[in-house]
Amino acid sequence: MSPDISNYSISLPYFDSLTQKFSEGDADALLAFGRHLHWGYWSDPTKADGSIADFAIAAENLSHLITDVAQIQHGLSILDVGCGFGGTIASLNERFSNMNLVGININNEQLLRAERTVHALPNNHIKFLKADACQLPFSDDSFDVVLAVESIFAFSSREHFFREARRILHLGGRLTICDFIPIQAFYRTWKLIEKATKTLVIRTYGSRPVNFCPLIEYKELAKATGFELVQTENITRNTLPTYPVVNSLMRGEGDEETYRATKGLERLSRRGLLQYMILSFQVSSP
Ligand SMILES: C[S@@+](CC[C@H](N)C(=O)[O-])C[C@H]1O[C@@H](n2cnc3c(N)ncnc32)[C@H](O)[C@@H]1O
Repeated sequence: MSPDISNYSISLPYFDSLTQKFSEGDADALLAFGRHLHWGYWSDPTKADGSIADFAIAAENLSHLITDVAQIQHGLSILDVGCGFGGTIASLNERFSNMNLVGININNEQLLRAERTVHALPNNHIKFLKADACQLPFSDDSFDVVLAVESIFAFSSREHFFREARRILHLGGRLTICDFIPIQAFYRTWKLIEKATKTLVIRTYGSRPVNFCPLIEYKELAKATGFELVQTENITRNTLPTYPVVNSLMRGEGDEETYRATKGLERLSRRGLLQYMILSFQVSSP
């Protein structure tokens, strides 16, 4: 039975501030984040021109890369967990046919925008619904691919999410995620300073603190939940031109905490302590 979370809400100040900007008709915010709520991907980062239009193209390119890594083809059933405003579902809808596309999110405002702006093309089906990543309201073996694009760090438990993804995927299905992954040496230090940064992160990104997971733990998690890690793409360098654009957008009034948190992420990424990775896991056991 599906859990009832209709009255459940988590505080997401960063997203609330964005939806407020959209309703005020902020053209820059709409172009940068009206479709995707994730970083950009530049195959040649030296060619990034720092404009919001260039960033919007790069964000779409990241969606293309993720769907390539997930080996998405026509005719599949895809679940996008933490679907934001539905940008990845929109991109799949435009490029593939005979698709069953489902986006879930814990946040009502984002789902409303997704429902308003993303419409299934003929031969595709799209559904957006409110659900928690760790309690997926779907039957066993019902999807070919599960995606979590820059969302897994916000879930209450990676392990619960992996177990749920395994349950709803067909044998041979794929779970493909993007995450900011700490190198091992930094991870040990991070655990020590985590307490000190917790308040800022909670006030900015929501009621759950960012929760890093190094690659070695992802491998162990995969093994324990019936997956095998089959592809790892370190695209840190290709995402770095995101920061000047996002920082300039966030510097506006009321976004100071988001700006500071993102600056921290930038510093760690430029120093190679955090790596932006796409990881793809295949269901390995029944
Ligand atoms: C950085 S955004 C990424 C959005 C989208 N994947 C994209 O790439 O445009 C993180 C998303 O995860 C969602 N989220 C956070 N916790 C969640 C949970 N427990 N279950 C489902 N979605 C969640 C947020 O509401 C937000 O839409």
